[in-house]
Parts: sequence; structure tokens; C-alpha cells
Amino acid sequence: MRILSVFGTRPEAIKMAPLVKAIEAESGLTSLVCVTGQHRAMLDQVLALFQITPDYDLDVMVPNQTLNGLVGRVLAALDPVLEAAQPDRVLVHGDTSTALAAALCAFHRRIPVGHVEAGLRTYDLAQPWPEEMNRQVADRLCGLLFAPTPVAADNLRAERLSGRIHVTGNTVIDALFLAVARMDGDAALHASLEQDFSFLDPTRRLVLVTGHRRENFGGGFIAICEALARIAARSDVEIVYPVHLNPNVREPVHRLLDGLPNVHLIPPLDYLPFVYLMRRSHLVLTDSGGVQEEAPSLGKPVLVMRDVTERPEAVAAGTVELVGTNADRIASAVAALLDDGERYAHFARRTNPYGDGQACGRIVAALAGRDPEPFDPLRARELQEWGTGR
Ligand code: UD1
Ligand code: UDP
Repeated sequence: MRILSVFGTRPEAIKMAPLVKAIEAESGLTSLVCVTGQHRAMLDQVLALFQITPDYDLDVMVPNQTLNGLVGRVLAALDPVLEAAQPDRVLVHGDTSTALAAALCAFHRRIPVGHVEAGLRTYDLAQPWPEEMNRQVADRLCGLLFAPTPVAADNLRAERLSGRIHVTGNTVIDALFLAVARMDGDAALHASLEQDFSFLDPTRRLVLVTGHRRENFGGGFIAICEALARIAARSDVEIVYPVHLNPNVREPVHRLLDGLPNVHLIPPLDYLPFVYLMRRSHLVLTDSGGVQEEAPSLGKPVLVMRDVTERPEAVAAGTVELVGTNADRIASAVAALLDDGERYAHFARRTNPYGDGQACGRIVAALAGRDPEPFDPLRARELQEWGTGR
């Protein structure tokens, strides 16, 4: 069976790369990869890390691209690839414009589509925007729905969608475990990462920041930067913010924070150095989806600069808090974690509500026609508590 995986942004690449490797390793499945290039620079580093050479590269990114321009380019460029590649199944991931356009393109050609990371919902079309719509529409177009968690699967069932649902765990935890194993198994690599970050002061607590959501453009980013400036005024912390390449993010962040003591604005990090920094951080401040899933697995408290999240599991587990985009609220939530040891200890418990590192195996089993045992977060927790999990 020929499986064509289509992805194009950094988060999709990180979450699809281990799956591509698992498909390659399964006899009876032929893996084909088409990258849209929605994120040219941030995508290519992930392909290099996982040693994936795309069979097709649509190279659609243009500077400051519009959503309609991007979706139009992906639809037009992917159609002839589907004609040439003749896949039996197309796989798309998550909630990006690439995912929506690729699912629609394959649907128009009556090629069955599998949606990896199906079923996450806020049920608010304004946030995340446009991703909530992208994910809902993609789910409706797909015959195979790979829900990462039981909560996501419940959402899909309640919507009475036509696709077959499998609860798989999130492939981001597979990617994270691979990255951690790579770093821990290679002393020279670890030493070179330490060297890369030798500018950090080991006596200060590290606050790692990422932020790029469209609904935060404008006022949201101004408030976030104001909060960061206040946090940076403390002498016991250091902030590292790898700034997303979107010009709508770069402009306000550099304008408002450049030159502030205790704030390091750096270019986006490759995946391994970013995982290294997550592990080294005291807490994480983010509006990212993937980081919300990874950091709890590393035992790092996460403050999410959004009003709603489609990833409620870690909020329920008490290791993630939604702090919105109000400067006072963000600054006081960070101060509470820095100054209250008990509160910090409560947030810093290691939890794996999103996956157990076996998601790709389950997805491959389903593609190969076997019926995989569903991911069970309670069982994953038990294994971890008994010290037999990772
Ligand atoms: C996209 C996704 C969002 C995802 C985010 C992850 C959509 C609608 N949005 O948003 O869901 O959370 O990626 O990062 O699909 N750029 C570069 N080089 C890169 C990447 C981006 O220069 O490698 C710049 C370009 O000017 C590009 C702009 O960033 O036009 C915006 O990229 P785009 O993919 O449209 O939006 P994101 O905000 O990255
Ligand atoms: N990430 C990275 N380098 C960075 C920031 C993030 O490799 O400088 C990784 C992070 O570990 C996570 C993914 O990128 O796996 C999340 O991507 P992003 O925040 O761009 O998108 P989202 O998850 O919000 O869709």
C-alpha cells in the first residue's frame, strides 16, 4: 500500500517525522513524502534531523504569505503530485493550512485520507484562528481519524463523523523521546549543546518563551512583551525567546524587547537544541500547541498565553495553566511559580497525558489493517509511577 504523507510546517514535521520512519520500516507499506514547504527554513532542519528526503517538494512559502494565497498554492501544486504518485492513502497532520488544503485536494480525487492528531477542539472558531476551522474541516474530510487522546476521540464521536477512529497517543511524544534518547546517548552532542548555550547564567532560573499565534498579533503581542519586560526586571531569572520567523511576530518582539537585560531573543532553534533548553528551563511560557504537550512530559510547568486550549488534558492534570494575554496576569502567574516553592512543585510533576511514545506504532498498525490497542493515559501514568515507563 502506498502512503503519501503531506506536511509543511515545523510542528507538522516534528510530529510526522517519526511516523514516516515507522511507515518506512513496515513491510507491506511504501512511504512517500510530499512537503509543501509552508515553512521553508523551519521545516528543512527537521527533515535533516530525521534524515527524510522528500519525494516531492512544493516549495510554496512566500514572505508574509496570506492564508488564501497559501491554501491556493498548496491545492494547485499538490494535485499533479497526487496524479503522479497514485497513493492509496494520504496522511495529513493537525490544524495547519497545509493540512486543510492537502485533505481537500485528496478528497477531491477520492483518495482516502488519514488525519493524524484528529479531534482536538476549542469549539471557538476565533481561537486558535484559523486552526480550529482547519482541524474541524479536515476531520470531516477524512476516513481515518487518529485521535491522540480519549478526550479528542470523544469529540469526534459526539460529532458523528464518518471516519474510523483510533486512539493513538500523540506522535509528538514519540519525537520527544527520540530526541531525549539521542541527546542522552551522545556525550559529545550534549557537550556541544551546553557550549551553544554557555551564554546562560547557571545561577539564574531560565524562563523559556515561545509565541506566534495569529489571534495574538497586535495587542496580544504588545501585552506579552510588556509582561516579559517586567519578569526580566528580576535579577534571579533569565528569559530565552527563540523568535518565530513570521514577520508579524518578529517586528513587535524585537521592537519592544531588543536590548533588555536578562532577555535573549534568538532565532528559532532546531529541534534538538530546543528540547535541550526545555529540559534546562525552570518554566515555559508559550502559546504553542506542541510545547504544551512536550513540557509536561519533561516535568516542566507551562503557562499558556491563550484564553482557551484544544489541549485540556494537562490543564486538568494541574501542570499547565491558561494565563491569557493580559500583561498583569502573565507577570503575576510567573512570579507565583518563581516565588512559591510548593506551587512550583505541584506544577512540575511529570505527566504524560498526551502519549507514551508508541503512537507511530499504533498508526502504522491501523494503516496495515491491524487493530491496535488504544492509547490509555491512565495506564501510561501507572507505568510511570511504577518506574517502568520512560
Ligand atoms: C503556521 C500555522 C500554525 C502553526 C504555526 C507553527 C497555519 C494557518 N498556521 O503559522 O497553525 O501553529 O505555523 O509555527 O497553517 N516564515 C519564514 N520561514 C519559515 C517559516 C515562516 O520566513 O520557515 C515566515 C514567512 O514570512 C511566512 C510567515 O512566516 O510567510 C508565516 O508563515 P505561515 O506558515 O503562513 O504562518 P505561521 O504563523 O507560521
Ligand atoms: N520548537 C522548535 N524550536 C523552537 C520552538 C519550538 O523546535 O525554537 C518545536 C517544539 O518543541 C514543538 C514545535 O516546535 O515540537 C511546536 O511548533 P510551533 O510552536 O511552531 O507550532 P504549534 O505547536 O503551536 O502548532
